[in-house]
Amino acid sequence: MENTNQAKKKAFLTGITGQDGSYLTDFLLAKNYEVHGLVRHSSVFNRQRLEHIYQATRRSAQSFLEYGTDIEQKSNLILHYGDLSDGSSLARLIAKIQPDEIYNLGAQSHVQISFDIPEYTGEITGLGTVRLLEAIRETKIKTKFYQASSSEMFGNAEETPQKETTAFRPRSPYGCAKVYAYHTAVNYREAYGLFICNGILFNHESPRRGENFVTRKIAKGVAEIVAGKRDHIYLGNLEAKRDWGYAPEYVEAMWLMMQQEQGDDYVIATGETHSVGEFTEEIFSLAGIDNWEKYIKKNPIYYRPTEINALIGDATKAKNKLGWEPKIRFKELARIMLDAELKKLGIIVIRN
Ligand code: NAP
Ligand code: GDD
Repeated sequence: MENTNQAKKKAFLTGITGQDGSYLTDFLLAKNYEVHGLVRHSSVFNRQRLEHIYQATRRSAQSFLEYGTDIEQKSNLILHYGDLSDGSSLARLIAKIQPDEIYNLGAQSHVQISFDIPEYTGEITGLGTVRLLEAIRETKIKTKFYQASSSEMFGNAEETPQKETTAFRPRSPYGCAKVYAYHTAVNYREAYGLFICNGILFNHESPRRGENFVTRKIAKGVAEIVAGKRDHIYLGNLEAKRDWGYAPEYVEAMWLMMQQEQGDDYVIATGETHSVGEFTEEIFSLAGIDNWEKYIKKNPIYYRPTEINALIGDATKAKNKLGWEPKIRFKELARIMLDAELKKLGIIVIRN
């Protein structure tokens, strides 16, 4: 049980509107944190993943939609406009909020898209981290910093499974930007004695995953086939293998890293790997559809100029030092994702 007499801890999250940001917000609010989030302006509403929190606290829809900041400070979730490309806004916010913990989850996070916008990806996913670290250094605020590092950094990995000591051989502009951010984070830890953690997270998925990542795309596509709304799913490389975990469990690992005595780097993974084809087959099978291959059309636009053929992580250090272990495995993850999509389409799922 939480001690409610203690002063509320404050966390500042970039990427709060994303998959991980929204789950971490749920997690931290349940731990009685005051959560501050960076949101960027967009012409369409980009806060759907946080809407349940606003509805639960019955805040004024007006301030949420128009500005998003909790003007009346009635809830523990406060949003601020800013951007990882805008260093002055980051420094101003950090000075104003004085957070105990900063989680840098914001990024141009799509690997294939990073080949189309490499410069922007470097700007946000790489340099965005430097801007935040510089803001901490200049404001001299005593805070802890989490960097969302990625298994994509291992790229064409030289060993299997990949662990904290495995060399990075990135295969995409996104992977290169994350390697830059990782090394910068380590350098600021060593040079300035800051508390900094790199969470090297392998793929993690959920019903809140962006629709253009492969697991969500497949789960949504199959649910739509069941509903008679489409006939096919267009995919790229079905042979690539990934170590897929469940996002809500992975945000807990982030928090655990930040509660240690010292900042350190940790791999977070399930230790299991499956191909995109196996995931597709599993989802079709859960939906009761045989001959899954006849519903798949290959489209070359989804192939990447360079691909990572296989990733599998070794999270032994996280188990030993953080007591963290994944519970949701491949088959259950697939079921959670398919059932969420079927539910959205009004299809009642009864499973034994
Ligand atoms: P996501 O759903 O794509 O969310 C990315 C977040 O970054 C969104 O909130 C997005 O805002 C924000 N963002 C993008 N550009 C920005 C900018 N210029 N300024 C400020 N914010 C910006 O990603 P995720 O899956 O939650 O992943 C969270 C972090 O972990 C990312 O850094 C990702 O690269 C990393 N990671 C993810 C995985 C994974 O499997 N999910 C694995 C390893 C590492 P909008 O909502 O406005 O677009
Ligand atoms: N997105 C997508 N769309 N991927 C496809 C498709 C498709 O239609 N067809 C096949 N794939 C293959 C990709 O080529 C890749 O090998 C695999 O499916 C997974 O693709 P994504 O779901 O886009 O994830 P990712 O592994 O490239 O990147 C995700 O995980 C990284 C951690 O390893 C992202 O969340 C990154 O931000 C994260 O760092």
